[in-house]
Amino acid sequence: MKFLIINGPNINMLGIREPAVYGSRSYEALKSFILSACEESGVECELYQSNHEGCIVDRIQSAYGVFDGIVINPAAYTHTSVAILDALKAVGIPAVEVHISDVKSREDFRQISYAGMACIKTYMGLGFEGYRQAVICLKKYLEEEK
Ligand code: DQA
Repeated sequence: MKFLIINGPNINMLGIREPAVYGSRSYEALKSFILSACEESGVECELYQSNHEGCIVDRIQSAYGVFDGIVINPAAYTHTSVAILDALKAVGIPAVEVHISDVKSREDFRQISYAGMACIKTYMGLGFEGYRQAVICLKKYLEEEK
C-alpha cells in the first residue's frame, strides 16, 4: 500500500509560523513524524509540500495509478481551491484531510473546506497526530474496500 502525503502552503514554515496555533515543531520534524507513522502502519509513503496551487494539482494528477491513498493538508487552499477538489475527484484516489489546528474554532473564512468534499474523513486540531490518524484511517478503509 502506497500513500502520497501532501502539505500545502506555509506548512514548510512550521516552527516559525504562529507557534501558538501550529506548535513549535518544524516541517522537518513533521516529515519524520509522518515517515514513522507510515512505517508503523506498514505503508510506503512519499511526502510532497508546495506553496503553489497548480503544483499541488499536478502532483495529485500524477498520483493516478501510482498511489493507493492520499493524505492532504491543503492549508490555506483548503478554503479557496475548487481546482484541488476537482483534482482529487478526477483521480478518484481515496483521500483523508488533515489540519494541524482546530479550524472549526477559527475564523469564518476557514469554515469551508473544498478539498474536504472529496475526502472520506477529516482530522483537525490534533497537531501532528492527525497525520498518524489519517494514515491509520486510510489503511483501514482500503483494507475494508477489498
Ligand atoms: C491549516 C489550517 C488552514 O486554515 C491554514 O490556512 C493553514 C494550516 C492547519 O493545518 O491547521 O495554513 O491547514
